[in-house]
Amino acid sequence: MTESIYTPDVVIVGGGIAGLTVALNLAPRKVCVITKNTLGVNTSSSWAQGGIAASIDKNDSNEDHVTDTLKTAKGLADEDVVRTIVNESSNVIKDLEEIGVQFDKNPDGSFNLGLEGAHSFNRIVRSKGDSSGIEIMRGLIEEVKSAKHLTILENISIDSIMSENNIIYGVIGRLTDKNIPDNHVVIQSPQVVLATGGLGGIYANTTNPRSSYGEGIALAAQAGATLTDMEFVQFHPTGLDFGLDPTPLATEAIRGEGALLVNQNNERFMFEVHPNNELAPRDIIAQNIFKQIEKGNSVFLDCRNKIFKNFKDRFPQVYSYCIKADINPEEELIPIIPVAHYHIGGVKTNLKGQTSIRGLWCCGEVAATHVHGANRLASNSLLESLVFGKIVAKEINSQPLEKERELISPSFIKTYKEKTKNKIMAKKYIWQLRSSMMRNLGIVRNKVSILRGLTEIIKIERESRGLSAKLNDMILVSKFIIIGAFKRMESRGCHLRSDFLESKKEFLKHIDQSQSSLERDIQTILKERNILKKEQSLAS
Ligand code: SIN
Repeated sequence: MTESIYTPDVVIVGGGIAGLTVALNLAPRKVCVITKNTLGVNTSSSWAQGGIAASIDKNDSNEDHVTDTLKTAKGLADEDVVRTIVNESSNVIKDLEEIGVQFDKNPDGSFNLGLEGAHSFNRIVRSKGDSSGIEIMRGLIEEVKSAKHLTILENISIDSIMSENNIIYGVIGRLTDKNIPDNHVVIQSPQVVLATGGLGGIYANTTNPRSSYGEGIALAAQAGATLTDMEFVQFHPTGLDFGLDPTPLATEAIRGEGALLVNQNNERFMFEVHPNNELAPRDIIAQNIFKQIEKGNSVFLDCRNKIFKNFKDRFPQVYSYCIKADINPEEELIPIIPVAHYHIGGVKTNLKGQTSIRGLWCCGEVAATHVHGANRLASNSLLESLVFGKIVAKEINSQPLEKERELISPSFIKTYKEKTKNKIMAKKYIWQLRSSMMRNLGIVRNKVSILRGLTEIIKIERESRGLSAKLNDMILVSKFIIIGAFKRMESRGCHLRSDFLESKKEFLKHIDQSQSSLERDIQTILKERNILKKEQSLAS
């Protein structure tokens, strides 16, 4: 076994928009950025179709943007955090333009702003219609390449945060290249920033890349950090139902430009549900599409409207997915399904991006800043990543540089060698887990489905016996979602419980969890399951 050792001032795990923004703003501190793939490849950031929400239209205001965000969040957003991101929105767009990022403009030079669900104004700053992520990442990567303070370590998977007594020592990982076995990388650093993205990959239907399975949440939990809001998984209403995994997205901006949602009978079912029809909040649309599917209907995006004559240029990514599936979106209906898209919960952070562990920071989707509450307003997440990327960097920069610490690597290296074996065998269990989470903890949950979900995950855990680090992380993260969903005995935002359809005042709070509370919580739920089983057998 070989091992490489690095000793930067800060190590950032994740090379998406959040991670790179933190990295660039940390100069002149010495920084290592760890990416799982080649920089920019297979990250949620590069796949982002929507853009950055910013109240820059002359009729719009920060106050309106704050109001829309709070209204969508259903009582659980932290207003201070919301104001922080909204007030910074025009600055982060300026920053991006300064490094050469090109946004869509009107002939008079003003921004060509898109409209997405639950926004009361056209407010989405975007690139080439549906290619914002690609363009922002292009700009950031160019900057990163010329930044002298940065070292990018690509194709590395992090196995653990090295921590002891609530003190961070760095991270340990390994090269993902199968041809170089047992090649470990130890990055000793007093400051670790997790910017690992979301967890859609634990669901059978998701827009997220395969590498987004909640790895950062698992790493942080194992290091002892507090998690929060784990039950809030946001489903996007319009995944392109072409039988692909991951499911390609059809951006909400298409509906913003007039596309309709219809079933196979050409009925606009959103019409009777919400006054904003196809531009209702995302949770309401996803839930109503789900209802249609439950009834046996198929659901389609209808872009055959006259305004879509140049669909190809306005939404080039979606167009190319459709053409590959042999569908001409200007003439034919596009089949869609709701898909796991964004995780609102995650590692609990304060207004500075700090977690409950000194030296451990989180930024982007992995972090739960309480900015989105129980339901995220579209395109607020890139904004959050960009604003918090700067905040986290500023906070770290304001702290004195710590003197070098002893490496504590040898015991870690042994453990993680064990963790990574039998990756191929794990595939079957990974699929079982993803399909269980989709069936039991998807758009609609209830006590019975949550208990079934827990039983199935425990069975997968028992049978797979620690086959792979990825599967172990997925099991752990699923359990946290199950516990959050079980404890939140109400419906709020994107958490819909068919056995508690109303929101309740007593749940106007966040549900925090940690590794230390996990076993106790699971035992409590299992007791409930046994009671339910007894009741069911008495009734039959
Ligand atoms: C979309 O383009 O519809 C997604 C935007 C987002 O998830 O914020």
